[in-house]
Amino acid sequence: MRRKIEAFIFDLDGVLTDTAEYHYQSWKLLCKEQGIPFDRKINEKLRGVSRRKSLEIILGDQKVSPGKFSEMLERKNNYYRESIKNISKKDLFPGVEKVLEELKGKGIKLALGSSSKNARPVIEGLGVKDFFEAIADGNSVEKAKPAPDIFLFAAEKLGVVPENCVVVEDAEAGIEAALTAGMFVVGIGPWERVGKSHIHFPEIGKINLDEIFARF
Ligand code: BG6
Ligand code: MG
Repeated sequence: MRRKIEAFIFDLDGVLTDTAEYHYQSWKLLCKEQGIPFDRKINEKLRGVSRRKSLEIILGDQKVSPGKFSEMLERKNNYYRESIKNISKKDLFPGVEKVLEELKGKGIKLALGSSSKNARPVIEGLGVKDFFEAIADGNSVEKAKPAPDIFLFAAEKLGVVPENCVVVEDAEAGIEAALTAGMFVVGIGPWERVGKSHIHFPEIGKINLDEIFARF
């Protein structure tokens, strides 16, 4: 059967809002306290990656006890929760609502597909929760991105086959997850990062839906 776009699944952090920066700042503070080297270059490896996996990447060969590991995860999350406390519509990237409205107008189903366990409070704060018919977040599946599970879960909740879904992602791990799920991928960000996507735009406000529909 011919493929046809029926649904769009949006990543959250770094796609709808700049929370990717808050994740970075939270890890930076934790690492500073622990005396662990950390910079934006290491941070690029964490984009779209689960909290647990992120800390494993940061620690590298450095061993810590399971208790210490959990405590560090909790501390990072507390810093992050503090930074999203006052998140509001103003924090949406420019053009996000227009894109969501245009897609709704075309009768396209919308879902969120985020690795974050904090996705719900973030989209509530941003005031865009009602756009999404399904929410797949860090609590929905066991295997985080780059596994395809989160996007497959979202598609199933929407009742749409994966081949008819478009994923909008800013992270390499997320692009890999969506490709493995058999979905069409729109990359947001620089080519060096999102080069494996089917089509890419520098920022979400620059998305051209006609181009996506034509290329699908
Ligand atoms: C992803 C972010 O969306 O969520 C990652 O890109 C983050 O940086 C991951 O580690 C998990 O988020 P949380 O809120 O569950 O720690
Ligand atoms: Mg992201």
